[in-house]
Amino acid sequence: MVTRRPMTWPEYLSRFHHERAGITETVLRRCVDQRGRTPYDWLGELTPDGGPVLDLACGSAPLWPTLSGHGYLGLDRSAAELAQAASRGAGPLVRADAAALPLAGGTVRLVVCAMALMLVAPLPHVLAEIARVLAPGGRLVAIVPATRPLAARDVPVAAGLLATLGRLPYPSDAPPADPTGVLAQAGLRLERDQAQRFSYRLTSRAEADTLLESLYLPSVSPPRVRAARAYLHTLARIGASVPVPIRRLLAISPT
Ligand SMILES: C[S@@+](CC[C@H](N)C(=O)[O-])C[C@H]1O[C@@H](n2cnc3c(N)ncnc32)[C@H](O)[C@@H]1O
Repeated sequence: MVTRRPMTWPEYLSRFHHERAGITETVLRRCVDQRGRTPYDWLGELTPDGGPVLDLACGSAPLWPTLSGHGYLGLDRSAAELAQAASRGAGPLVRADAAALPLAGGTVRLVVCAMALMLVAPLPHVLAEIARVLAPGGRLVAIVPATRPLAARDVPVAAGLLATLGRLPYPSDAPPADPTGVLAQAGLRLERDQAQRFSYRLTSRAEADTLLESLYLPSVSPPRVRAARAYLHTLARIGASVPVPIRRLLAISPT
């Protein structure tokens, strides 16, 4: 009998983004907070005018419309994601790993990173690379998934998803939970650490399926995924919303 070794995180992410390029943007564009802002709008509130700007792990480049006039460079490891980014006119784009940035030191005024700091590994190494390329006083603005805040009405929905899928880990989970130390090690000062509740309204089974497909589920068994799908379809029948709490970090490079 041939036993298959489980996929490593880099292998899983590579396949996931090859098969589902653009799915993060599709889902996050439908997520809104009480003021109607998407997570990308929220991130964009902390981006100063002027560049150059590095969009780290840019994916399909959802931040391109906001940052295109500012010396934009999109970087990602996935060719399929970069093809999506190119198809909307984003560029220049570079295929590279976040752990080895193909940029000279001190040349970037702003690094933005949407929904990827929890994926890049080893995180201390990637943060050191970000610190290296940032000019003095430059900024890192990142958004990452969070578990709070939740509204009271979210609790049963979150509990239903937890019961079916369990807690969803990421490769670099632990350091972003307490980013001050790991940022300081890289020479970056944490200036803001905020969390905001967004929600994804389910009005059809297709939207429920897209939400489920956007989740990284490398170790969730097929029966659990089926149970989560059935649960999300039930939520879609009643037009319920799934909470999507997100955390926003702003770190500054020393002057
Ligand atoms: C959740 S998606 C976010 C994409 C985009 N920023 C967005 O908000 O839609 C994560 C992205 O990180 C990229 N990625 C993961 N690990 C990476 C690494 N080590 N170096 C560069 N890109 C990486 C993936 O290819 C994927 O495009």
